[in-house]
Amino acid sequence: MHNSDSFVNWFRDSSPYIHAHRNRTFVIYFGGEAVLDETLNTLVHDFALLNSLGIRLVLVHGIRPQIDQRLQQQNKHSQFHQQLRITDDTALQCVKESAGLIRVEIESLLSLGIANSPMSGAKIRVISGNFVTAQPLGILDGIDYQHTGKVRRIDTSAIEQQLDLGHVVLISPVGYSPSGELFNLSAEQLATEIAVALQAEKLILMTEQSCLSTESGQLIAQMTTCETQYLIDNETQLATSTKCALQSAIHGCQSGVERVHILNRKIDGALLIELFSRDGIGTLISSIEFETLRPALLSDIPGILDLIRPLQQQGFLIARSVEHLEININDYIVIDRDGLIIGCSALHKISNSSAGLIACLAVHPDYQRSARGNQLLEQLFIDAQQNALQQLFALSTQTMHWFKERGFQESYFDALPLALQENYNHIRNAKVLKIDV
Ligand SMILES: CC(C)(COP(=O)(O)OP(=O)(O)OC[C@H]1O[C@@H](n2cnc3c(N)ncnc32)[C@H](O)[C@@H]1OP(=O)(O)O)[C@@H](O)C(=O)NCCC(=O)NCCS
Repeated sequence: MHNSDSFVNWFRDSSPYIHAHRNRTFVIYFGGEAVLDETLNTLVHDFALLNSLGIRLVLVHGIRPQIDQRLQQQNKHSQFHQQLRITDDTALQCVKESAGLIRVEIESLLSLGIANSPMSGAKIRVISGNFVTAQPLGILDGIDYQHTGKVRRIDTSAIEQQLDLGHVVLISPVGYSPSGELFNLSAEQLATEIAVALQAEKLILMTEQSCLSTESGQLIAQMTTCETQYLIDNETQLATSTKCALQSAIHGCQSGVERVHILNRKIDGALLIELFSRDGIGTLISSIEFETLRPALLSDIPGILDLIRPLQQQGFLIARSVEHLEININDYIVIDRDGLIIGCSALHKISNSSAGLIACLAVHPDYQRSARGNQLLEQLFIDAQQNALQQLFALSTQTMHWFKERGFQESYFDALPLALQENYNHIRNAKVLKIDV
């Protein structure tokens, strides 16, 4: 394939995701390690691109290695308990310096606008502020965490005001108490609390490694929260940072965040691949099954059209207009895979008869041959029974055998109810298939 063809195909394939993500709120966490890495500018450019595509973006950065570096320079180090730093006075000073420095560094990268750079013309406004109220973590297991805190409140309306204006909100892992004290917070936990408070559509945790299955060594592409908990409880070789991310993911999902993505930040363009390609590159965690078969909604129409357009062009399906879909949307069912429509079908009741017509049966080519066509058909049978229909018809030019193998019989034009005969397209000359339900 010519290079420009693959670019055009790739760009077209990503368009459903561009529509799906616009005006959605994503909270992205990345550790202090990412800030030390020479690839920071490409990561920040990707953030800028997401903002340009209308995604409401809240960035939460970590500062762990920066604090450690500063302490080391003073020949000091921190104690940790339950993966949390015990922040003494010296460490608190390092927290302030690290948070300030990183904030300025990210702001400056997002301000870059020189010609021929990926940021040219981007004009991004970054806002940081006192959005997080914290309280001391206190004494746990007899250990005084000193200046380590936990989130008490997130000023969601102030953050939302900034997001409404199209600004990127950048948040450091510190919180302020009403008495004016500063607390050091776990950045992953803070990102999770912010995602929960904003009811964000996505929480994206950028970690130091991919979440791999130790059995197969393969990436775990998706898990429910139950499967994630099972992994944490039974997988002894999980890296601590992955474990923390998975725990945050469970908390996020259980508190109302729809999707949590764990992404290896070392993969160049990981964010873009995960968000704008069909199967992504990270681990998707959700509390519900991420693929569902459900009745179609008006908001599914663009997705249905994207799915059926190529099949219409190949002559498998007849053309359907937006108006047709809008009027008949209650007849349609879809398979929704993480916001993307990968299967659909319709059952039209035929007026003045006890028959129905199965139409627009389609499964995206990448997802065929995994019984999704069957699932759709079974749901249509259930819908037909609930509507007291007695026969179902299908009109097919190339899929007769698929229907026959599922109990349909070849029938005749004259057997069609009158309303279907009147609308029958003789040029298309589709075969009539029939089944009693
Ligand atoms: C027909 C369709 C919905 C099946 O989806 P699916 O998710 O792959 O269905 P299933 O997994 O339940 O079934 C797959 C089986 O059907 C077979 N199959 C697929 N298309 C077929 C066809 N046109 N004729 C006969 N068998 C077919 C596959 O080979 C596979 O069988 P195998 O694994 O034994 O080889 C899908 O192929 C599609 O979208 N086709 C294009 C649109 C179309 O023709 N729609 C029907 C309009 S009337």
